[in-house]
Amino acid sequence: MSQERELTARKLFFSFYDGKLNDNQEVTLEGWVKSHRNNGSVGFIEFNDGSYFKNIQLVYDKDNKNFEQISKIKYGSSIQVKGLIKLTPEMKQPFEVHIDSATVLGDCAEDYPLQKKKHSFEFLRDIAYLRPRANTFNAVYRVRNTLAYAIHKFFQERGFMYVHTPIITANDAEGAGQVFHVVNDFKHPDEFFNSSACLTVSGQLHVESFALAFRDVYTFGPTFRAENSNTNRHASEFWMIEPEIAFADLDDDMDLIESFLKYIIKYVLDNCPEEMKFFDTFIDKGVIEKLNNVINAPFVRMDYTKAIELLEKAVKAGHKFENNNIFWGMDLNSEHERYVTEEIVKGPVFLINYPKEIKAFYMKLNPDNKTVAACDLLVPKEGEIVGGSQREEDYSKLQAKMKELGNEKGLEWYLNLRKYGGCIHSGFGLGFDRLLMYITGMQNIRDVQPFPRCPGSLKY
Ligand code: 4AD
Ligand code: MG
Repeated sequence: MSQERELTARKLFFSFYDGKLNDNQEVTLEGWVKSHRNNGSVGFIEFNDGSYFKNIQLVYDKDNKNFEQISKIKYGSSIQVKGLIKLTPEMKQPFEVHIDSATVLGDCAEDYPLQKKKHSFEFLRDIAYLRPRANTFNAVYRVRNTLAYAIHKFFQERGFMYVHTPIITANDAEGAGQVFHVVNDFKHPDEFFNSSACLTVSGQLHVESFALAFRDVYTFGPTFRAENSNTNRHASEFWMIEPEIAFADLDDDMDLIESFLKYIIKYVLDNCPEEMKFFDTFIDKGVIEKLNNVINAPFVRMDYTKAIELLEKAVKAGHKFENNNIFWGMDLNSEHERYVTEEIVKGPVFLINYPKEIKAFYMKLNPDNKTVAACDLLVPKEGEIVGGSQREEDYSKLQAKMKELGNEKGLEWYLNLRKYGGCIHSGFGLGFDRLLMYITGMQNIRDVQPFPRCPGSLKY
């Protein structure tokens, strides 16, 4: 690797933070021009090489024999620059680079869609191939990367095994009928696999089979849902983290969710301070404090039945929901979830033991025969971010439920897991993109995914 490629802005900043950056050190850097101004005697280039969120300021003046040539460098172009580090402790940026020479590597045309001015998120969505260069998106994708790393780090440090569950499946794991079917030009789809095929909506069923061999496992990959709901929280393709733990009940599951969330949020706050400061200043004032509250608060656990009572009480006391018809058995709307977490608990809360009718077939039936051992984690400003449950380990109860729903065919193997050395086990699913929205304060799932896929839009 050339010496030039080895030196990055990231290395310079970190060596500065370590007190090891020397004045007058010679550097060669390659990167992009984020802004360029010149008053005729001195010029400033905001420069970013992609390795770090913060820009480096490049400076040149009339004494430079290349002054004329450097002053022609265009906004947006890629350049190689050679110069000297100057520590600037009295300025906003801790150091700058005084340019000796600069070479244009790739010029930038005048019709560059990403102009210096502030663009709307809608406009930037339309140029998704360029938006990683815009500040907000640069920060979003960096946090996305750090968050993904933190997730693996948490599980790997605790001995969880990472499992690659299949993308093409024969079943609708959630039984909600929101699958994309896989077709091909070769044969009728059913003939190719000898089965109907769809894109996975969840890796849970497959990962359960691994939990019953490896005890603590997780899958973390893309999932697909053909929900025709055009909201800012629904995507047709999104990533999900699904751990599954054997010999574990719902309480163990909630303990895991709580320590997992606190760990990964703290990891992002500790490792993306510049990006988080940016979100706190420009996107969602108070987001850092909100996250610190989540890290420091114990998560409350409340029965669904209790939540219904409290919501009914709120309605009686005059609170107006869009849907004021609160009754035991209802699926809570987002406004109800938010009321519980924001107004009643004032912090993160697990709602547990939901009516069996509104939850998935695989959840463990409680002794009351009416509710299942499920938990949804609700957080202020967002509502549900995690859904989990203890799984039904009783063969006959699960079989009866599947018969009732008519989804046994093709899932005999899943039922058999209860027959061959089954045990109590639990797990949960966390929507990665929704968590990223929560952490960054971004309002639309389309603005935290690199190339979002949503109903009516598949441009890139
Ligand atoms: O609540 P869901 O449907 O649960 C499951 O899929 C279980 N199999 C999880 C498990 O226990 N292993 O989905 C889990 C999470 C939701 O809480 C939400 O964060 C996210 O996935 N999610 C979506 N995110 C973006 N776009 C969509 N269309 C989503 N649907 C669900
Ligand atoms: Mg759910």
